[in-house]
Amino acid sequence: MRKPADNIEIFARRRRLLAERAKGSAIIIPSHPEMIRNNDVHHPYRQDSNLFYLTGWEEPESIFVFRPGQTPETVMFVRPKDIERETWDGFRYGPEGCAREFKIDKTYLITDFDKEITELLKPVDRVYYRFNIDDGFDRKLMSILEGVRRSHGRSGRGNLPVMDSWELIGELRYLKTADDIELMRRACRVTARAHVDVMKATKPGVSEKKLLGVFLASIYAQDADREGYGSIVASGANACTLHYVFNDQVCKDGDLLLIDAGAEVRYYTGDITRTYPVNGKFTTAQRKVYDRVLAIQKELCAVAKPGIPFKWLQDRTIECLTDAMIELGLIKVPRTEAIERLLFKKYYPHGVSHYIGLDVHDTGLYQVGGEARKLEPGTAFTIEPGLYIPADDKDAPEELRGIGIRIEDDVVITATGCENLTSEAPKEVSELEALVGR
Ligand code: GLY
Ligand code: MN
Ligand code: MN
Repeated sequence: MRKPADNIEIFARRRRLLAERAKGSAIIIPSHPEMIRNNDVHHPYRQDSNLFYLTGWEEPESIFVFRPGQTPETVMFVRPKDIERETWDGFRYGPEGCAREFKIDKTYLITDFDKEITELLKPVDRVYYRFNIDDGFDRKLMSILEGVRRSHGRSGRGNLPVMDSWELIGELRYLKTADDIELMRRACRVTARAHVDVMKATKPGVSEKKLLGVFLASIYAQDADREGYGSIVASGANACTLHYVFNDQVCKDGDLLLIDAGAEVRYYTGDITRTYPVNGKFTTAQRKVYDRVLAIQKELCAVAKPGIPFKWLQDRTIECLTDAMIELGLIKVPRTEAIERLLFKKYYPHGVSHYIGLDVHDTGLYQVGGEARKLEPGTAFTIEPGLYIPADDKDAPEELRGIGIRIEDDVVITATGCENLTSEAPKEVSELEALVGR
């Protein structure tokens, strides 16, 4: 049986924060649709992040309706208890269990949704909902809104306005509370320890798949729920494929290994990348590139604090990496011209950061009122500069071809600076050389 989350009060605290921002409305969040893999076999199920964030509820075929200030305020539609189905698929809470264990004011069977929803929407003045996740539910909502309009009779009222719940809840999720940060520390700690286990298991001749297995075994042994995203275990020039998914090559003596993998713990994910030599000793050429990427990564970790515009992180990375590219002989024009002509993109095509939380690429606005958003206490994000020199790049010095390096940590802004949540994963050359293959 799946137990409710350790501290059910967290969800009520989040709902109270949301209620302050959404008075008079109803927020409708269906559970994530189940995905069929083949015949009667499903892909592993993971609840919609927003639904989990506000309730802790993990069952499919459910709908949460939140009506701040109304009675009942929290309403959940769920699957019935069903002994036969539970024999096949496992425990279900049913309406009574949901109300009791998840502290939901009023629960119904999912089959009662169409019957009950009109009354629930009558007193509200707008609806928040996220279109385009489930087409079937989008259509259902349109007809429900028409039913609510008709139920108002000759009042002159039109359809309830529907606003996107993405930004409303996304902005709440963006600012991590003390509860959230504690959970993120856990996910990041599990992730970092699993990276250390992979470092120890790395040696010439080991397969990328085997190292992926080491990562997975480690996170599951530490009670993680799943990966936070598809892991990238890329040896040699595979590291230059940014979203390398095959993970099916053998790690060769003299190559680097880039591993980008994160554990999800109670829905929060870590997102760490480390790059190190398969045989435990950097070559001079690998060091040249690694040292530059590490210096930038450490600079950003050191200066991140409230008030710095998020966009500055990327601007600064582009400056530093472009300088590195010039020094390494990859780019042969001055910095200003290389930046203006976007020449750096050949070797550094991605962004240095994204928000992180329940989703690896988490919610939250990157611009506010047309201006770059500034970091503030509770902003959680990655710092992940990288440099990738394609194996067939005739413009690059031969010794650098096929080197791909990314170093990624997860941080959260505090009152005065930032806390590195992933500092348990070593990134200094001396630490890596002492650990890899030991
Ligand atoms: N692992 C995905 C990312 O770093 O954005
Ligand atoms: Mn990332
Ligand atoms: Mn990553």
